[in-house]
Amino acid sequence: MPNTLWRFIDDDATFVAGNPDKVSRLYFPLVNEFGMMSSITPKLHGDIKTGQHSFLTAPVTAEDLNNTLYNRNFWLYVEGRGAWSVAFGEVDETLVEAGFLWHKVIKINKKLGVKVEVLNFVPAENEAVELMLAEVTNISKKKLRITPTLAIPIYGRSADNLRDHRHVTSLLNRIRLTEYGVVVTPTMSFDERGHKVNNLSYFVLGCQGNSDLPKGAFPTILEFSGEAGNLERPEAVLKNISPDKKSNIARQGKEAIGAIRFRTLSLGSGKSMSYIAVMGISEDSPEKIFKKFDSVEKINKALSVNKKFWVEKSKKVYFSTGDKDFDRWMKWVGVQPVFRKIFGCSFLPDFDYGRGGRGWRDLWQDSLTLLLINPEEARDCLINSFGGVRVDGSNATIIGKKQGEFIADRNNISRTWMDHGVWPFMALNLYINQSGDEDILFEKARFFESDKVDTVLEHILLQHKRPFTKIGKHGNFLLEGADWNDGLDMAKENGESAAFTAAYAGNLFDLANLLEKINYKREIIDELRQKANGLAGRMRKDEWVKINSGYSFFNGYYDNLSQRVEGDHKNGVRMTLAGQVFPIMSGVASQDQINEIYRSAKKYLWDPELKGFRLNTDFKEVQPNLGRAFGFAYGEKENGAFFSHMNVMFAYAFYKRGFAKEGFEVINSIYDMCLNTSAARIYPGIPEYFNADGRGMYDYLTGSASWLLFTMLTQVFGVRGEMGDLVIEPKLVKRQFGKSGKVSVNTGFAGKRISVNYYNPDELDYGEYKIGNISINGNSITGIPIKRELFIKLASRPTNSIDVNIVQA
Ligand code: G1P
Repeated sequence: MPNTLWRFIDDDATFVAGNPDKVSRLYFPLVNEFGMMSSITPKLHGDIKTGQHSFLTAPVTAEDLNNTLYNRNFWLYVEGRGAWSVAFGEVDETLVEAGFLWHKVIKINKKLGVKVEVLNFVPAENEAVELMLAEVTNISKKKLRITPTLAIPIYGRSADNLRDHRHVTSLLNRIRLTEYGVVVTPTMSFDERGHKVNNLSYFVLGCQGNSDLPKGAFPTILEFSGEAGNLERPEAVLKNISPDKKSNIARQGKEAIGAIRFRTLSLGSGKSMSYIAVMGISEDSPEKIFKKFDSVEKINKALSVNKKFWVEKSKKVYFSTGDKDFDRWMKWVGVQPVFRKIFGCSFLPDFDYGRGGRGWRDLWQDSLTLLLINPEEARDCLINSFGGVRVDGSNATIIGKKQGEFIADRNNISRTWMDHGVWPFMALNLYINQSGDEDILFEKARFFESDKVDTVLEHILLQHKRPFTKIGKHGNFLLEGADWNDGLDMAKENGESAAFTAAYAGNLFDLANLLEKINYKREIIDELRQKANGLAGRMRKDEWVKINSGYSFFNGYYDNLSQRVEGDHKNGVRMTLAGQVFPIMSGVASQDQINEIYRSAKKYLWDPELKGFRLNTDFKEVQPNLGRAFGFAYGEKENGAFFSHMNVMFAYAFYKRGFAKEGFEVINSIYDMCLNTSAARIYPGIPEYFNADGRGMYDYLTGSASWLLFTMLTQVFGVRGEMGDLVIEPKLVKRQFGKSGKVSVNTGFAGKRISVNYYNPDELDYGEYKIGNISINGNSITGIPIKRELFIKLASRPTNSIDVNIVQA
C-alpha cells in the first residue's frame, strides 16, 4: 500500500498516483454529455457503455476490477524477451496521471525494456466513443523487435444478458472485420418479452499513430485465446500467431473481441511508436466516426477540446483559500453532480444496482449545484422536473435521461419515500433567491400520470399537504417506504420519521417567508406558519430525549411497533445523525438544543480514531421493525458509516444556524478522510461514505458533492442571492484564511462572473469579525444585500472583483 495514493500537480487539479495498481476497487470515470460512460482503472479495467442495454464491454462491479480478465488490454510481444500485457502483466513501476477528464497509465517493464503510456478519454464531442492512445518507448539500450496487439473484448449487448442467455445472445452477433478492426452488430436485442431488431454497432477500430493500417485482427475470443488459452494467456500473442484469413461464416455467432494486430516494428533505443484505438457504440458508420480520430494529431486536438470543456466546468465555482489541496479537491467535488447527471446512480463499478436513471431525491440534490453553475438552464429544468409530482403530492421515483422523463418505480415495486416532498422546494427556493425570479412559482407545470396542469406553487403546496394525511401515533409523519435513509424500509405501517417531520416544518417556515416577500395571499401564509409552529413546538418538547448519562438529543424515529428508536437502550445509547440534522436545519431546535446536540454527537457519534461523525450508534441487533440498514455490518453504508451526505447536511445545518466552528469541524472531518489517501483509497472527490477502514465507498455519484459545493458557496463563503439581491455573509473560521489572510471565491451571479475576496489582516475568527468596507471593481458599496440593479450596473467587467474587508466586530 503506497503511503500517499495520489497528489495534485497543478491548479487544474491534475493529480498523479504512484503504483495505484496495488489498490483494488480503484476507478476513474470517463464520460461525455452525449451519454458515453466509461470507467477505467490502473489495469485498464472497467466497462464502456451508453446504457443498461448497450454495453460495449462486459459490465463490471468493483469486485470484478481485480478478478476478471474482461478488460481493455494492450499486448506487446518482444522478440527474444516474450509477451507482456500492459494491463495486468508484471511491472516495475506504475503511474497514473489524470485530470479533467482524461486518464493516463504509465507502466515500466525494465526486463522487457519498454515503457508504455496509455491515455484514455471520452471526447466531449457528440460521439459515443472512448479513445485510447498507447505510446510504446524502448527504454533498453538495444534495438527491440516488437509486435503490439490491442485486445478489447466486445460484449455488445444488454447487462441483463450477463447471466440471462449469455450464449444465446452471442449467436446474434454479426461480426465484421474491417481493415481497421472489428465491428459487431447483433441482429437483435434479446428480450423474451419481445425481441427487437438491432441497429446498434459496437466497434473497436485502430491504427498506428501515423494513420497506417493495422496488420489484421482476431475478431473472436476463441481465435484470439486459442482453445487452450484465455484472455490472460492468449495463444495469438504468446505464440505470436499472425491473424489469418478465415472464412467469414466461422466467425459469426461467437463471442467477439477487438483484437487488433499491428505490424512488427524495430524500435531503436529511446525511440517511441504510438497506436490508436477508437471504441464506440453507434448506429452510424463506425468507419466514419473512426476517421475523426485516426491520427495522433486528431487525438491530441480532441484531447485539448476535452480538457478545456471539463476544466471550464470545474471552474464554474472555485475557491482560493490557504489550503491549495482543498481548493483543487473542491474542483473534483464540483463536477461530481455533472457525473451523476450522466451516470445516474448506476454505471460505475461501485454502483452495481439500478438500470440507469437517477432517483427523485438525487435529481433535486444535484440541481442545487447544477443551478448554481448553470443558472441559464435551471428555470426550464425545474419546471419540467415538477412534472414528476402527482396530484396527490407523491411523485415518480426514477428520472429518465431526457428532461421531464419520469418512471413511476424501479422494477415496478411501488413505494413512497416520505422525504421526497421536501427536496424540490429547497432547490426552488435557492433558485428564486439567486435569481429573483418569483414568477416561476406561477408557471404552469404538468402532473405525473395526469392530464392536469397547475402552477409550480400548487405542486409545492400539494407536496406539503400530503404528509399531513399520514400522521403517526406520536404526531410525526409516517415513515412509509423510507425517508432519506433508504435503509429504513421495514416500518411501513406505523414507523414515523421525526427527522423529516422537522424538515417539512422547516420548509413550511421558508415557504411562508417566501410568500410573504412576494406579498402572496395572507391566509395561506398564516396557515403554513401555524402548521410549522405546531410541528416544531411539539417536536421541541416531545422528541427531545434526555438520557441517563446526562446528554440530550432529538429522537428521529419510531419503529413499526410504534416504539421510540433513540435514547437509552440495554444494548447502549441509540442515536442517529439524521435525527439531529433536520431539527437544526429547519429551525426546530433552539440554540441551546443545538449546543447540546453537538455535545451529544461528539460523545456518541464521533469516532475518535477515524475522526468523523457516524450515521448512528451501534444498535447491536438487526431491526426487522425498522429497516434493512441494520442488517448491514456496523460501519457500512446506512448502518453507522461516515455517510458524507448526512455529514455535509449536518455542516450546512450548523452554518445556517450560525454555528460556524461546528460546521467547519464536520466538513473538515470529511475532507481529512478524503485526503488521507492511503486509507480512503479513492481518487480526489467525495465518496458516498467511508467504511470502518476509512475506505471511500461508492465513489463519485453522491448527493453529498452537490450539498458540499452549495454549503461552501452559500454558507461558508456566504455568497448567495436573496430575492435576486446579492448577500455577502462569510462564516469562515480563522484557520481557513491561511497565512495570507485573504481568501476568494470565483462564481457567477446575475449572469456575471464575480470574484469575492475577503481580507482578514487582523486574523479574526468567526464571531469576532464583521464586514467592513465592500467595493465592486473599486466602487464602494454600502448596505447588504447589494441590490441586483446596482450590482449589474457596477459589474461591467468579464470578472468583477468584490473586495470585502473583515474587521473587528
Ligand atoms: C444514497 C442515495 C440517496 C439516499 C442515501 C441514503 O446517497 O443516492 O438517495 O438518500 O443513499 O440512503 P448519496 O450519497 O447519493 O447522497
